[in-house]
Amino acid sequence: MEAEKIKSEVDKIKSLFEQELQIAEDEETKIRQIRTKYLEELNKLFKLIRELKDPEEKREIGKILNRTKEYFEEITQSKLEKKEITKIEIPDISIESYFGFHGSLHPITIALRQITQIFEKMGFEVEEGPEIETDWYNFTALNIPPEHPARDMQDTFYLEDGRLLRTHTSPVQIRAMEKRKGKLPVKIIAPGRVFRRDWDATHSPVFHQVEGLYVDKVVRMSDLFGILEFFFKNFFDGKVKVRFRPSYFPFTEPSAEVDISCICDGKEPACKVCKGTGFVEVAGCGMVNPAVFKNVGYEDVRGFAFGMGVERLCMIKFGINDVRLFFGANFVAFKRRYF
Ligand code: PHE
Repeated sequence: MEAEKIKSEVDKIKSLFEQELQIAEDEETKIRQIRTKYLEELNKLFKLIRELKDPEEKREIGKILNRTKEYFEEITQSKLEKKEITKIEIPDISIESYFGFHGSLHPITIALRQITQIFEKMGFEVEEGPEIETDWYNFTALNIPPEHPARDMQDTFYLEDGRLLRTHTSPVQIRAMEKRKGKLPVKIIAPGRVFRRDWDATHSPVFHQVEGLYVDKVVRMSDLFGILEFFFKNFFDGKVKVRFRPSYFPFTEPSAEVDISCICDGKEPACKVCKGTGFVEVAGCGMVNPAVFKNVGYEDVRGFAFGMGVERLCMIKFGINDVRLFFGANFVAFKRRYF
């Protein structure tokens, strides 16, 4: 064979070698096999040098073959060494967990899922709204004008541009009605996070509410009571007493407050949750005030709305006596105490 042919043979072998090596990835036995196979191929070419007549050509081909051989060896070797490094086993230096549990859903998440399920069964759609609201949606559209004293109870965190962190999920009532304009019924619940300037055993600056709104041609207050009773019976497996008290909200008329019986069942005068009264306020409700309908351009309709506090429901359901524990850092201790 002449020198030129040997050269092109070397090129061919080299590219085949590279291709196969790439396919082999990190498989040790394959890399070794490829190395042997291609070194043998080169050996065959080495033997052909003898047949070349020109000493200059002999030297040149010899050099090329030697360089290629070194190349094959180096590349395969480095691949194999890399393999060795990745094979080193790292000992497990973590200490076995002291506590015998491995995490679970937060009680608020559990409650929210259950609440949603119960209302979905009754045909309510789930609606979401923004946590940063405008004054209009959070207050004014809900019949709470700037000078209204109801704003005092719902002091919140304001942004520089005048927007605020919503103090309740009621703004979603307005958004849901605007979105569905002309389509009845509007039958939604709106679970979500809300914010207020509060901090004690039953008030946290961040908490959760579930809003409910049902608007149609004919909706009665008895529908509202029926739906809420059905909900509380289901959520608490029939174990609590429900009580409605007349109350006042600017966006409902008439309005009522919903109380349910406390975990202490009224037997502990020092109870932190119900303060010895035996009942805990868990929701506000009422018939949608016509002023609210006017603000969203709805005519000839009636509706009811309610808003409940999810932490309060959880406190009763799971027997937790301080709302701040839900958002505290020491959740492990919290779970040891309550779950
Ligand atoms: N938004 C009221 C609150 O946070 C609760 C409520 C909702 C009352 C809907 C009536 C109707 O206190």
